[in-house]
Amino acid sequence: MDSTITDGEAHSNQIAYWNGPGGAAWVAQQAHTDAMLAPVAAALIAHAAPQPGERVLDIGCGCGATSLALAERIGDGHVTGLDVSAPMLAVAAGRGSDPARLTWLCADAAAHAFPKAGFDLLTSRFGVMFFGDPTAAFANLRRAVRPGGRLAFACWRSPAENPWMAVPLAAAAPHLPESPPTDPTAPGPFAFADPARVTRILTAAGWSAPRLTPVDLLLDLAAGGGLDSAVAQMKQIGAAARALREQPPEVVQAALDAVRAALRPHVDGAAVRLRGGIWLVSADA
Ligand SMILES: C[S@@+](CC[C@H](N)C(=O)[O-])C[C@H]1O[C@@H](n2cnc3c(N)ncnc32)[C@H](O)[C@@H]1O
Repeated sequence: MDSTITDGEAHSNQIAYWNGPGGAAWVAQQAHTDAMLAPVAAALIAHAAPQPGERVLDIGCGCGATSLALAERIGDGHVTGLDVSAPMLAVAAGRGSDPARLTWLCADAAAHAFPKAGFDLLTSRFGVMFFGDPTAAFANLRRAVRPGGRLAFACWRSPAENPWMAVPLAAAAPHLPESPPTDPTAPGPFAFADPARVTRILTAAGWSAPRLTPVDLLLDLAAGGGLDSAVAQMKQIGAAARALREQPPEVVQAALDAVRAALRPHVDGAAVRLRGGIWLVSADA
């Protein structure tokens, strides 16, 4: 991590980001992003194998897609969709769900005082890579799970294993001012790319040694809407979008023209498919 930023500051920056520009982009692109990431939701839920009657905590649930899908699988159990982003959670709450099966909680997963052993299963689709002190956060989450309970989450592998982010970013890069190299372990989408680091964090937090399963998925960046739709999505979501934020309009336009050219070879009818590489991570309390 950048030595000028403490873990606490990095954590606060993430909370501000998800309540600010990050949250706004995910809210604007909710339907598109849910369609694009549907293969991840399916893989994660199959891996987590929620059982009827289980109490599930879905961490960093965002606009709610995985929480809603989990709620359909737990019979008379219960899902809590937790997120620190008020605008994203407002979208989730507006999607219609049975409060007996699914409730929403706006809280910081790293610090919230969960009822001890109140859950059987903790899940997350890309919601656990943003903690300033991940070991402390996962220790807090472990206390929320009953003995014998479990954790199952999806996180991104390295940029090189995620052409859906690397290709648009490489196309945009020549149009962007040079930026200093970033710490790959800083809170962000790739913070859990290194399996040894994930293992160190989870075991130090009191979980069992995790099992990490690599899964490659084809993601439709266009969500069935063609090349224009894929470019619009890359302006809002993913590594290129983060790099383009706060750039002047002429820079953004030049970069997006380059992104369009880079995505064109991947057009397949109304889809624009590129590979995404994830870890499915599971551990026991
Ligand atoms: C990449 S988004 C994923 C959203 C959602 N899981 C999905 O797949 O559509 C990351 C999510 O993690 C949430 N998040 C980040 N830090 C958090 C924290 N400390 N506590 C709870 N949620 C957090 C963000 O607000 C955001 O909704």
